[in-house]
Amino acid sequence: MPDSVWQKALDRMAKRVDQTGPQLKGAFPHHADPVTGEWTTTPDGDWTGGFWPGMCWLAARSTGGARYRRWAGEWAERLRPRAGSDTVFRGFLFYYGAALGDVLFGDASAREIALEGARQWAKTYNPNAGCFPLGDAAEEASDVGQGEASIDTVQGAALLVWAAQAANEPAWRNLAVFHARRHIEFCIRPDGSVCQSASFDPVTGELKRRYTHKGVSDESTWARAQAWAILGYALMHQWTGEPDFLEVAGRTADWWIAHVPASRVAYWDFDAPVGPETEHDSSATAIAAAALLKLAAAQKDEQRRKEYRAAAEATARVLVEGYLDARGILDRGCYSKRINLATRSELIWGSYYLFEALHVLAGKLEANRI
Ligand code: GLY
Repeated sequence: MPDSVWQKALDRMAKRVDQTGPQLKGAFPHHADPVTGEWTTTPDGDWTGGFWPGMCWLAARSTGGARYRRWAGEWAERLRPRAGSDTVFRGFLFYYGAALGDVLFGDASAREIALEGARQWAKTYNPNAGCFPLGDAAEEASDVGQGEASIDTVQGAALLVWAAQAANEPAWRNLAVFHARRHIEFCIRPDGSVCQSASFDPVTGELKRRYTHKGVSDESTWARAQAWAILGYALMHQWTGEPDFLEVAGRTADWWIAHVPASRVAYWDFDAPVGPETEHDSSATAIAAAALLKLAAAQKDEQRRKEYRAAAEATARVLVEGYLDARGILDRGCYSKRINLATRSELIWGSYYLFEALHVLAGKLEANRI
């Protein structure tokens, strides 16, 4: 597609950022009604509070707009109290919400906030299990605590790799690598499909069961589990250079490409019975598009690079042409079908990843920069 198509989509999404900021009154956007455009917000950012400042860091980078930079800094500051909350999702919060400010702008205040999040999260590592547990304050309503894990947390390990460099704490890099490796055992099935969650014994570290928080069943493949795996391992390879992470990212991406419907937009679970009413998940699909761009950039083999790039472009294209409306709202994300929460909605993380992918496709950002 010509660069101008990606740029126009990016402009639409930037308009939505313009429209969102003044609505928020200091809260964090979580999900929005795609008809009215009205956001449901959270006061403290829940698990998604990093994505709004993340979009602002990106908008500031591509447009130079001072207002975006100011919003990014303000919402990064609002994340500061979350450094001490007992949730593995501090990885999402402080990577996108604050570390991006250091990576893209060398912003000292954002760097300090991100380091505080990383420092406090690093203390929760369980050496017996070789991973960070979900924690008692993780957003999944049940099955959280010190013996639970999920694939949604591999991305967050990149915060610690960044922080290991930024604070000269090499041990943090090791913890991040152990965490990501343990989740290969926990969540990646031999065929490359992904099981969202696992329970382990916090004392011995022994794996007790594999299950799902948000999918159809423990044996099914929840679309975001698959997408988070591709993204998490591509990002961890990007930050560490470890070859096994690239292999897992490739294997899970190949499974996605082989199983996604011909339309390229995933249903909310790959095993959901399909009928006219079955919900898609544009957010899982946006995560996959952003991850495929990283995977393409990491390939040494030219043919593989072209294949992943083509898959990323085709995926972003269907989102831009069929799911992103004229106001810049990415419609038809499915937050949680199991509890019927925001099943056909704009989801802040879906918007973030499409926005990131469009930055790469429009030539505004290197795929392996953030
Ligand atoms: N817990 C992350 C997600 O719902 O995708």
